[in-house]
Amino acid sequence: MTTTRSPLARAFAPLVGVTSLLILCQAVTAGEFIADEHAKLPLEVHSMVGYLTLLAAVATAVVAAIAFRRSSPVLLWGSVALAVMTAGQLVIGKLITDAEQDGWIAVHVPLALLVFGVTIWLAFAAARERRAATAA
Ligand code: HEM
Repeated sequence: MTTTRSPLARAFAPLVGVTSLLILCQAVTAGEFIADEHAKLPLEVHSMVGYLTLLAAVATAVVAAIAFRRSSPVLLWGSVALAVMTAGQLVIGKLITDAEQDGWIAVHVPLALLVFGVTIWLAFAAARERRAATAA
């Protein structure tokens, strides 16, 4: 027997995918401006994509809160953690660039790896949830 999944539950995995791609894009642009400190465009793109990443992560968390609050709290809390860490990345990035507090780079880079790890974990957890729901 197959159960009908809500449109929001079906939107979750694609949203996690979009968030992961945006985070990957952050690593690519960071590589560009680290390689050439005079390159302005990669930093501007890094800043802009940073806001898009936050938007995608918050949308993922809102969808998880509505679709999985009861059925899969782990997806909900994982998504909320991702949104909070992404917001932290934005604030830290601004501290580095606008307030010239370069010491925060030592937090920004490892936190980016953690953020990436959480999105990968969320992608697998979303796939597991989908398999379990469609097999039920
Ligand atoms: C979730 C992922 C990330 C977000 C949301 C994010 C966000 C930001 C933002 C908003 C800035 C300030 C840019 C500006 O105002 O012009 C920034 C700066 C920076 N980011 Fe990221 N970032 C992320 C991932 C990464 C990664 C993966 C790396 C490196 C491996 C990185 C390295 C840096 C560095 C070095 C700066 C300072 C650039 C400078 O002013 O010299 N970021 N980040």
